[in-house]
Amino acid sequence: QQREKADLLKAYDFAAKLYHFILNNTDQGKAAKSYLVSRGISDKLIETFQIGYAPAMWDTLVQQLEKRGFSLPLMERGGLISARHEGGGYVDKFRERIMFPIYDATGKTIAFGGRSTGDAQPKYLNSPESFLFNKSRTVYNLHQARPHMRKTQQVVLFEGYVDVIKAWEAGVSNGVATMGTALTKEHAALLNRNADKVVICYDGDNAGQSAAFKSIPILEEAGCQVTVAMLPDGKDPDEYVSTYGFDRFVREIIEPAVPSMKYKLLYIRKNFKLHEEGDRLRYLQTAVRMIADLASTMERDHYLKQLASEFPDSSYESMKLDMHEILLQS
Ligand code: UTP
Ligand code: MN
Ligand code: MN
Ligand code: MN
Ligand code: MN
Repeated sequence: QQREKADLLKAYDFAAKLYHFILNNTDQGKAAKSYLVSRGISDKLIETFQIGYAPAMWDTLVQQLEKRGFSLPLMERGGLISARHEGGGYVDKFRERIMFPIYDATGKTIAFGGRSTGDAQPKYLNSPESFLFNKSRTVYNLHQARPHMRKTQQVVLFEGYVDVIKAWEAGVSNGVATMGTALTKEHAALLNRNADKVVICYDGDNAGQSAAFKSIPILEEAGCQVTVAMLPDGKDPDEYVSTYGFDRFVREIIEPAVPSMKYKLLYIRKNFKLHEEGDRLRYLQTAVRMIADLASTMERDHYLKQLASEFPDSSYESMKLDMHEILLQS
């Protein structure tokens, strides 16, 4: 078992170096590199994140692993290569993809995310779970972000690889990503061990905003203080940086992140037609119920006052009475 683990780690490390070499030193790599450059990922970032390229061939990695005496059945079980559907033998799992090594907390490569540069689906192919890689306990870039998380007691949580990388270039060195999977309790505990405050910075599309809404209670139950950075017009952090630049990303998106309660109130608004009286009342009732869930009296009062000042035809006093009733019932 220990021996297999050590061998697989060695193979992942080798594969990461091979893919990185191919990106930097071959003709196929050249095209992949111009794709990266067109997305604002410079040579410096390619080094920092050890990005690589898996070429279009069927067995580049398989051949190299075999030559070095790695056990191919073990490599297959470890998710690094695939068994051929027919006729036996093995083929590369990743072909024609930009390769993002995924590291464990100590910086050992344990998986890959591979982005297709063409139309191949899925857009990102991730290594399957293995005895090295547990998705619900891994966040991308933890090993590099951790010292900055500890120092600032803050972590910025993104959806994807490219968001983390572009944010890093913008000076956000405490950024990590959940890589498409929903945030788990284990992720939240992991973040909380290294930082008190979490800034959720998910994509500005519906999927991202709904994922942010769902992640808030998971993070708060783990003990994190949560704020949410909001991206306009369906943009993701990577696109925002490309369009508006690094400075504006930090100044206009990261720094103004709003407290989780404020985000939740804004988020549920979309379900109500606030210009209609009946809907407006239902929104206020839902909002008051949400605010009643807050643990501190002062916080509850704070948001209740804000709500009341926003909706002058309902009084603060009546909202407070409603909230008292809710608190008595619970
Ligand atoms: P997104 O769809 O937001 O992609 O998925 P992205 O990060 O903006 O990708 P680019 O900018 O087009 O390259 C966010 C994350 O979800 C995971 C990946 O980790 C991705 O970074 N994902 C997405 C997958 O695992 N598989 C997919 O097919 C798509
Ligand atoms: Mn290098
Ligand atoms: Mn997304
Ligand atoms: Mn995205
Ligand atoms: Mn993107």
